[in-house]
Amino acid sequence: MPAEVAPYRRADLPVEQRVADLLARMTLEEKIDQLHQCGVGDINPNNLARRADELRSTYGSFMAAGDLPLRNELQRRAVEGTRLGIPAIFGADVIHGYRTIFPIPLAQACAWEAELVRRACRSAAESARADGVDWTFAPMVDHCVDPRWGRIAETFGESPLAASIFAAASVEGYQSPRLGAPGSVAACLKHYVGYGASEGGRDYSSTEVAPQRLWEMHLPPFEAGLRAGALTVMSAFNDLNGVPASANSYTLTTVLRQRWGFRGFVVSDWNAVLQLTHQGYATDEAGAVQKAILAGVDLDMTDGLYRKHLAGLIKTGRVPLAVVDEAVRRILRVKFELGLFERPLVEASALAGAAPTPAQLDLAEEFAVRSMVLLKNTGVLPLAAGVRRVALIGPLADDAAALLGSWTQQGRAAEATSIEAGLRGRLPAGVGLQVAPGCQIEGGGREGWDAAVTLARESDVVVLCLGESAEMSGENASRSTLRLPGGQEELALAVAAAGRPVVLLVVSGRPVELAAVEPKMAAILAVWQPGTRGGAAVADLLLGRKNPSGRLSVTWPRTTGQIPIYHNMRPRARLRPYGEYQDIGTTPLYEFGHGLSYTTFAYSPIRLTRPTVGPDETLLAEVTVTNTGRRDGTETVLWFIRDPVASITRPLRELKHFEPAAIAAGASRVFRFEINPARDLSFPDADGQRILEPGEILLFAGPETARFNVAVVP
Ligand code: NOJ
Repeated sequence: MPAEVAPYRRADLPVEQRVADLLARMTLEEKIDQLHQCGVGDINPNNLARRADELRSTYGSFMAAGDLPLRNELQRRAVEGTRLGIPAIFGADVIHGYRTIFPIPLAQACAWEAELVRRACRSAAESARADGVDWTFAPMVDHCVDPRWGRIAETFGESPLAASIFAAASVEGYQSPRLGAPGSVAACLKHYVGYGASEGGRDYSSTEVAPQRLWEMHLPPFEAGLRAGALTVMSAFNDLNGVPASANSYTLTTVLRQRWGFRGFVVSDWNAVLQLTHQGYATDEAGAVQKAILAGVDLDMTDGLYRKHLAGLIKTGRVPLAVVDEAVRRILRVKFELGLFERPLVEASALAGAAPTPAQLDLAEEFAVRSMVLLKNTGVLPLAAGVRRVALIGPLADDAAALLGSWTQQGRAAEATSIEAGLRGRLPAGVGLQVAPGCQIEGGGREGWDAAVTLARESDVVVLCLGESAEMSGENASRSTLRLPGGQEELALAVAAAGRPVVLLVVSGRPVELAAVEPKMAAILAVWQPGTRGGAAVADLLLGRKNPSGRLSVTWPRTTGQIPIYHNMRPRARLRPYGEYQDIGTTPLYEFGHGLSYTTFAYSPIRLTRPTVGPDETLLAEVTVTNTGRRDGTETVLWFIRDPVASITRPLRELKHFEPAAIAAGASRVFRFEINPARDLSFPDADGQRILEPGEILLFAGPETARFNVAVVP
């Protein structure tokens, strides 16, 4: 008689049955180990050899570090060397690419193309999975309207609708073609929730988010990501209205589990449990553990406090065993759903540790082209055929690392195309390119100015590359000012004074302050941190081989002092000219949605199928857009609404739908928005209940406005 196979090992049984069977077999120690995630620094090969005791094979999770043999060795120990053989789950920060780096998410959102997000995530997942990653700590879907916060680079911009759509697209991309399939990794929605409201843009600081705003701006992308099937959620660092997000039972349990029905697990952010003591929410480590697990944090990232204190807390009755069981249940459920019990090891493949493939590079280039935003153009772009001498100036001219941005995982600057390299590769024969850095990104003096100014004077056009290094945005990279770092602003003015047209390329993880230099620039292109193929994309756009089509996913302020400034603000009490700043005005330098093209588009008036819509009806809005220029181009129609009078005041503009489409020169295209009142015209109250009120609604598309009514709601 063959030995009977334990039910939890049987792939033919339902997941819940397997989980229950396994849970019933586990000791308390084994359960607690499942709730521990071992940090990346702890799993180097030395530790593996010397500290097997500390690197327990019963740990629930490890941070994967792009080392497939090591990962598989750890996994082999877990499944073959332990009593129950429970596989670990290996997580890593695959944020905007793996070895091939795509634009930062803030830039990705400027392409307004969910399919590109999906494809980039799928591509990153394939490479990451081949390298042993089961789970990515992405997408990041925080809502932020303060570009001082370095992590705005990781967001999908200031529209909750856009963030929701891109959150869902990311989850679909990472988790495709299906959970556990080769080339698929589990997604993690982070940082739940409110982290993007860090006061003053200072990372890790506390947040005050009024409940109505939480429901309106911060929670929607998480809900959208969950509906798309995200298996996990990461609890954030921030103190949210006095209750830290990693100990917040309202957000972690009431909303996430009870209201939304989330059945996956929550991982704390790095040391977030320990940090409850820093935040003044727990007296000591044990108290922090108690608060975190009772609130709904299942897996403890790296600080080891669950391992250290849970047994004692259970013994003294401060944490019920049932709470631990439930946390373990959620983690096991995800492991079963991912197929880790059936396929714990990742087989070596051609993609493991591989350099970017041609298909990945093509996608990276396409995405970079689509995400760059032409902010200003007096006509100097695309560069004219007569241009013979190009001066490439600025500290970012040949800095491939800066183009990758933060969280570059396995990305390598040596494999990335700098702006100089991109231009050299694509400038037509006979066009000279001379380069002068002019200054450093930060610090340094004026030593390089003369050479730069002389070069500018001897050129037909200057391409000026200014902005930030990769380290100036991302985690723990807040800045008190959006001004160009170091002497870059002065360099820009000096170079502009040479009298040649200057095309400014802004390399950055956030909008930067351009008020002083903008009037002197002939053209400005927001390059962002465009990734591995950034330089090639820049070259194609400057030369007119591609037509810019990006539009801002975030409002671009004139000065730091305007922060916060965003399109979906509430109206103010007194109308213009009241309430303006005396010095700078209250409009931003570039509005949310702004972005130029080398062609022109004309909008027809908006057509509506009916003047009034009932709560259960739909209303179709249409606008015809004609490419009135001589070049093919891509236009993104952004549909906004305004609800002028409501029981809870509504924003000046709310984005409700968007669609990009290529339109050939001279051709027209009809863009449609099917308005569903419950989805598109309702708004949340402070408890997240949706309200739909009768009355007039304004609808905007491009320069066009239409009005319709919502009929009385019964
Ligand atoms: C801290 C960051 O806040 C989070 O985004 C990241 O996923 C974890 N560290 C793991 O590296």
